[in-house]
Amino acid sequence: MNILITGGNGFIGSHTIISLREHYPHARLVIADNLTNSTLETFTNLKKLVKEGIEFYNINICNEEEVATLFINYSFNAVIHFAGLKAVGESVEKPLKYYRNNLISTLNLVKYCLIYDVGKFVFSSSATVYGNGESPFIESHSLLPTSNPYGETKAICERILIDVANTNPEFCVSILRYFNPIGAHESGLIGEAPNGIPNNLMPYITKVAKGELETLHVFGNGYPTIDGTGVRDYIHIMDLADGHVAALVNLKPGVNIYNLGTGNGTSVLQLIDTFEKVNGVKIPYKIVNPRSGDLATIYADARKAERELNWNAKRSIEDMCRDAWNFAKNTVTI
Ligand code: NAD
Ligand code: UFG
Repeated sequence: MNILITGGNGFIGSHTIISLREHYPHARLVIADNLTNSTLETFTNLKKLVKEGIEFYNINICNEEEVATLFINYSFNAVIHFAGLKAVGESVEKPLKYYRNNLISTLNLVKYCLIYDVGKFVFSSSATVYGNGESPFIESHSLLPTSNPYGETKAICERILIDVANTNPEFCVSILRYFNPIGAHESGLIGEAPNGIPNNLMPYITKVAKGELETLHVFGNGYPTIDGTGVRDYIHIMDLADGHVAALVNLKPGVNIYNLGTGNGTSVLQLIDTFEKVNGVKIPYKIVNPRSGDLATIYADARKAERELNWNAKRSIEDMCRDAWNFAKNTVTI
């Protein structure tokens, strides 16, 4: 079995490769990643964990010629498409960059899947496509307008995949709407290490824990939640990774959409408290104004994936905090 993993050098892709290797010991796992948001160090560490049958190509999926060459050289059985830009704030500043990268990459891949009869496609979508709706989010909810260009690229890609699958019955698609992946592989060799000042909560917490940043800014404490801070459905990255294997194994004709979340919400202060307790470190924080565009509460109804994929998230918030710190404390970041 040959599996193309676009963006496989990134946070979610690299962890998914470990799950894929466990489930498909003989598969050829081909990463195509242009290193726009990752470094070769991840691949070096991934090789230590996965050892055999993994290949890396520095390819921009928006470059049609490079994609064509890849499909000519390999007879792929499946594609998992992670490659994408994901910073919400940057997408507002530079919408064209996001539309170009996230849409053209998807259009190129779908085109070559159809040409080369690759009938298995798994796509990284996001809870952000639910827009300003009410949690728990259910896959059958009609989507409300997204609040930023990044979210819109995901909604448009979903639509492209649905339209293509409608007229190509052999093209089977699983759309996975992720909630908030955090944590790291338990080895501590790979994890989430964004460069510069992180946008997301957990990498910010670990930078404060390391002393690289002084204080965590908690964006608002006036929300209608348990303690006034934002509530999210955090999911351990290895549970999310296993969700991709479940999606691939249970791929059905047409397009099937699944939330990958735990179904539980945790507030910012609850996450900080757990991190401090599990790891024995202090996280100094101060409450600042809410971040524009943030919703009070986002969590999944995760029952469809449990019913149809026989998958559910098993790891706890404590596991997520411990593994995130286990990775971050030994990692040199820029
Ligand atoms: P990431 O940035 O760590 O990984 C994405 C990888 O794709 C990077 O290694 C990057 O270099 C590569 N890439 C980007 N554009 C490319 C292109 N044109 N050609 C080749 N490689 C390219 O992000 P992640 O957190 O691993 O996210 C993976 C996918 O999941 C993305 O599509 C993202 O939008 C989606 N997603 C992520 C989250 C999250 O919280 N991390 C939530 C919902 C959805
Ligand atoms: N937060 C802070 N301080 C920070 C960073 C975040 O208080 O420095 C708060 C936010 O206000 C929010 C919570 O922590 O209440 C989580 O924020 P993140 O930025 O970690 O995650 P988001 O839920 O805003 O967004 C993430 C991804 C999106 C994806 C979404 C899916 O960034 O791409 O999860 O639910 F669409």
